[in-house]
Amino acid sequence: MIETRCISLAGVAIYLFLGTHAWAGDNEGDVAFGEYLSSQCVTCHQLSGASNGIPPIVGWDTTSFYQVMDTYRQKARENKAMQTIAAGLSDHDIKSLAAYFATIETTEN
Ligand code: HEC
Repeated sequence: MIETRCISLAGVAIYLFLGTHAWAGDNEGDVAFGEYLSSQCVTCHQLSGASNGIPPIVGWDTTSFYQVMDTYRQKARENKAMQTIAAGLSDHDIKSLAAYFATIETTEN
């Protein structure tokens, strides 16, 4: 009995921690989680904001970023690579990526 209660209390604590943690980022995104996910993006997209034939994605506002990713996910915008990548991302993943990339200032001008 006591053990079960302890476990459920721990569950609540983790839930609350993750909940507030997610809110800490802009627009429900979690910057640290977005940074973690971004490793799969920066092989193509330059963190410096340079466009090497691939458009820069740093310094965007989070709403536009989310909308663009969602159009790839819905296959409303053509690009096989981006459609495949976006299809594997949840709303929270995209919002976290948006929050992270929004914090990066372009060094290219
Ligand atoms: C295989 C290379 C590749 C990878 C990996 C990749 N992208 Fe892209 N991305 C592209 C290309 C190419 C385009 C331009 C496609 C087009 O013209 O619609 C693009 C376009 C975009 C755009 C729209 C840019 C604009 O100016 O409209 C966003 C936002 C974006 N990618 C985000 C991401 C994110 C976030 C990730 C990681 C989860 C990612 N991409 C991973 C190649 C890649």
